[in-house]
Amino acid sequence: MTGPDARTLLSLGQNQAGKDVSADTPTKDLSVQAAKAELARLAELLEQANRAYHTDDAPDITDADYDALKRRNAEIEARFPALKRQDSPSDQVGAAPAEGFSKVTHAVAMLSLSNAFEDADVGEFDGRVRKYLGLSADASVAYTAEPKIDGLSLSLRYENGALVQAATRGDGSVGENVTANARTIADVPQTLTDAPDVLEVRGEVYMSHSDFEALNVRQTEAGQKPFANPRNAAAGSLRQLDSAITRARPLRFFAYAWGALSDPLSDTQHGAIERLKALDFQTNDLTALCDGPEQMIAQYRKIEQLRAALGYDIDGVVYKVNDLALQARLGFRSTTPRWAMAHKFPAELAWTRLEAIDIQVGRTGALSPVARLTPVTVGGVVVSNATLHNEDYIAGRDNKGEEIRAGKDIRVGDWVQVYRAGDVIPKVADVDLSKRPNDAMPFRMPERCPECDSEAVREPGDAIRRCTGGLICPAQAVEKLKHFVSRSAFDIEGLGAKQVEQFHTDGWIAEPADIFTLRDRFGSGVQQLKNREGWGDKSAANLFDAIDEKRSIDLNRVIFALGIRHVGEAAANLLAAHYGTWAAFDTAMRNAEEGNAAWDDLLSIDGVGAVMAHALATTFNQEAEIASIDRLVAQLSIKEATRPNTEGSPVAGKTVVFTGTLEKMTRAEAKARAESLGAKVSGSVSAKTDLLVAGPGAGSKAKKAAELGIETLDEDGWLDLIGTA
Ligand code: IVH
Repeated sequence: MTGPDARTLLSLGQNQAGKDVSADTPTKDLSVQAAKAELARLAELLEQANRAYHTDDAPDITDADYDALKRRNAEIEARFPALKRQDSPSDQVGAAPAEGFSKVTHAVAMLSLSNAFEDADVGEFDGRVRKYLGLSADASVAYTAEPKIDGLSLSLRYENGALVQAATRGDGSVGENVTANARTIADVPQTLTDAPDVLEVRGEVYMSHSDFEALNVRQTEAGQKPFANPRNAAAGSLRQLDSAITRARPLRFFAYAWGALSDPLSDTQHGAIERLKALDFQTNDLTALCDGPEQMIAQYRKIEQLRAALGYDIDGVVYKVNDLALQARLGFRSTTPRWAMAHKFPAELAWTRLEAIDIQVGRTGALSPVARLTPVTVGGVVVSNATLHNEDYIAGRDNKGEEIRAGKDIRVGDWVQVYRAGDVIPKVADVDLSKRPNDAMPFRMPERCPECDSEAVREPGDAIRRCTGGLICPAQAVEKLKHFVSRSAFDIEGLGAKQVEQFHTDGWIAEPADIFTLRDRFGSGVQQLKNREGWGDKSAANLFDAIDEKRSIDLNRVIFALGIRHVGEAAANLLAAHYGTWAAFDTAMRNAEEGNAAWDDLLSIDGVGAVMAHALATTFNQEAEIASIDRLVAQLSIKEATRPNTEGSPVAGKTVVFTGTLEKMTRAEAKARAESLGAKVSGSVSAKTDLLVAGPGAGSKAKKAAELGIETLDEDGWLDLIGTA
């Protein structure tokens, strides 16, 4: 077999480089150095060809030339296996780069579901719903119960009965435009009759077991890697840049929800699903109407029993409040609806050998023991790593010091039970002492950080040992950077965990701000980067552009990206919504000190507790941290937090206090509603209060409001004002 000829290289405009890599030398005559150089060159040429084909939709070489390059690469790799590159083109199967899809901003966010595992959680869910709605003990709420399909969600937009757009969930607010691919799915109608003018149908794309098995046979026959499970196969198939590939993959779709609508589908969840069915969507036959927790659990049992015979994967049952008016009243927490819950099936289990316990250092310095396992299949997924939580867990104690696993400790060499629940990271649950090797030693947590050798300290009351190295600890720095570029944070295309690690090792970036000065520090930038393994002209230029694109960014993402302990995505959203601007947030955090006004204001946010407040105040109290944050902020233009649904709201930006008994809604509901309209709800009356809503029995707060001349309304007056009386 010969290598790519001069014509191939010429057609790529790479004739100069082509000469360097002695492409015409038979593989057996190549020196190690020449082979290495040629592999690098081939990786670049193939990457360029892939981009031209997938991203730019403009192939610049013929299929035959492309195959010749790939073959030459494989031959050299076969002759010099040690030279095989990490980014070897031979390992790149199918999966197209995500940057090939355009982005779609969902008109109505695509949220996820809160999870529960126990029967008792169902009663509690119903209790929460009824409490929120202020229903009496004897009033019952009806729910639907339906299978939770294990696929990936898809939103289909129809305008005047025609399918105009299909988008994946993405991060919930922005997804990928997969319209061409969705059109190839038989279960997705192209046109609808008698549908609302605007209708977004949401549901799950999945692959049946039989189709999955047949696809894997085809993959293997074609010399390609089989998919690990039907969910991965469905995701990999839907997210193909070439819709011809999607067409060849047997995907299916169940409709179970909706987004934007010009007219309501029904006044109940069940009715809406019936309507979708009448419009020709596939809906799940195991959807049942239940009058309370007992029937919900009965339906769960029924679905659980049928699970193995369904022919497709499900991972639980979803309950939804049936009455859509009640759904609207219940509304949403930051990422999940209050009116729905997923009741997951129990975790899957397997036994395997614990080969080693490694210590990973996280972005907050936490030392986490990780189990390295002899690979084992747990519920269709191969698991070789699992979490061991902390040193107490390994020793057989919980965080209160009480025995777990009957006090059995876990040792390297042990036979251990691994479990996986849904997408959750696998855990080591149990140990079989009868199989313990005689020489197995109890585990001891290191007292120094394995990465920077700083002291690792365990504070009283904390189960976690933490590295005290702070910013000098390379592991913490890298983890912080990885978090910073992660999907819910800055989400920079082309800059993932792998690249961040490489750049950090190379000394190019030490902290987030450095990402934004990369281009300047490298002059033309591109020149330096493209000489690195795995980077070509175009990918380097794309990276710098992608970085620039994220200079203008939402406040919630910045807050989340800082990686402050206890401040997750939901908390970052709350903080952004509360403070509105970076300046307001920054000032408040620098000033917040236990007991002062800024502190009280921080704690007044529903969802912010003392632990989070302390973490925030601590971060904004450390000089090195503040300096690093300031350097970052200087590179950015942080957008003001947009408050959805507050346009035309009469209470946007106003501070409202509720007091006395409310009769038409609960306090929680009133607060959530006011906040969704852009108001700030406070617990006490002060000069800053704009409005007091006083029900019967209002006392001192009403008096104080009167003294301060603050506008006061009764409940009906409030409902009139916000337009829902
Ligand atoms: S309802 C506002 N119903 O589960 C919530 N979701 O864990 C809308 N899913 O992102 C979702 N089967 O991809 C709903 N019958 C079902 C579902 C279902 C699967 C998925 C969906 C969602 C995820 C949340």
